[in-house]
Amino acid sequence: MPTINKCLFPAAGYGTRFLPATKAMPKEMLPIVTKPLIQYGVEEALAAGITGMAIVTGRGKRAIEDHFDISYELEHQIAGSDKESLLSGTREIMKKCTFSYTRQIEMKGLGHAILIGEALVGHEPFAVILADDYCVTEGDAVLTQMVKLYEKYQCSIVAIEEVPQGETYRYGVIDGQLEEDNIYRVQNMVEKPAPEDAPSNLAIIGRYILTPDIFDIIRNTPPGKNGEMQITDALLAQAKQGKVIAYKFEGRRFDCGSVAGFIDATNYTFGKQTEQVGDK
Ligand code: UTP
Repeated sequence: MPTINKCLFPAAGYGTRFLPATKAMPKEMLPIVTKPLIQYGVEEALAAGITGMAIVTGRGKRAIEDHFDISYELEHQIAGSDKESLLSGTREIMKKCTFSYTRQIEMKGLGHAILIGEALVGHEPFAVILADDYCVTEGDAVLTQMVKLYEKYQCSIVAIEEVPQGETYRYGVIDGQLEEDNIYRVQNMVEKPAPEDAPSNLAIIGRYILTPDIFDIIRNTPPGKNGEMQITDALLAQAKQGKVIAYKFEGRRFDCGSVAGFIDATNYTFGKQTEQVGDK
């Protein structure tokens, strides 16, 4: 029995940095080359042995549900042609995974979106992927690395990376005690601190493993920065009990919630794909 069975995808945000593209289309459906961001996320969860995909959507996000479903007309149209292979990855996912959805009616922040996901994940530890953080690795995918770590530490885990000190205001930032190489026991965390107030330059990125007590903590945590329910504030309560590990993952993250990060990810991935074609 795998320890983590479900992965939650908070995908209800407005994606305002991508307007007008995200006016009628979910940010999570923006493609890196030909595959939407959310599919990369689902593939990462699946690679970590997780088959239950729990997606928190919102208004205007129906394309996500359609993406992980059969499109009879389209599939009939390309049946027998070489284009069929372009859908094989999506079909494989649909065969192996179950998808459940719920809607966040009011966008009150990431902590709130995770709380809305409680109905889908139940009372067990679960993973969280923010699909707009697109991660690439040479070996194990980031979530696989984290699931392995969970087996050892059995507490909440956040993925971190070093960011330039001047950019701390864009992230949740941790302070912690080094436990072993690349692994910190978190003692403090601050949401979007000004560089001069940041306890370190170790920033939380969009991969988490959370223990289910987080739901009660979120419920009892007042809104934080920008009046939103911040997951960082809830995690701080767990950290104060010594129950949060921060993990400097192996790999590279692209912030595809920003236009520059999205373009970098596209160029990187297209470069890799053309390299592979060249090798054949
Ligand atoms: P972001 O702040 O990066 O996403 O939230 P956003 O609000 O969609 O983007 P901009 O700033 O307007 O361009 C991080 C993640 O949390 C989800 C988002 O969908 C994204 O995956 N989120 C955020 C929710 O699901 N609900 C919320 O209320 C807020």
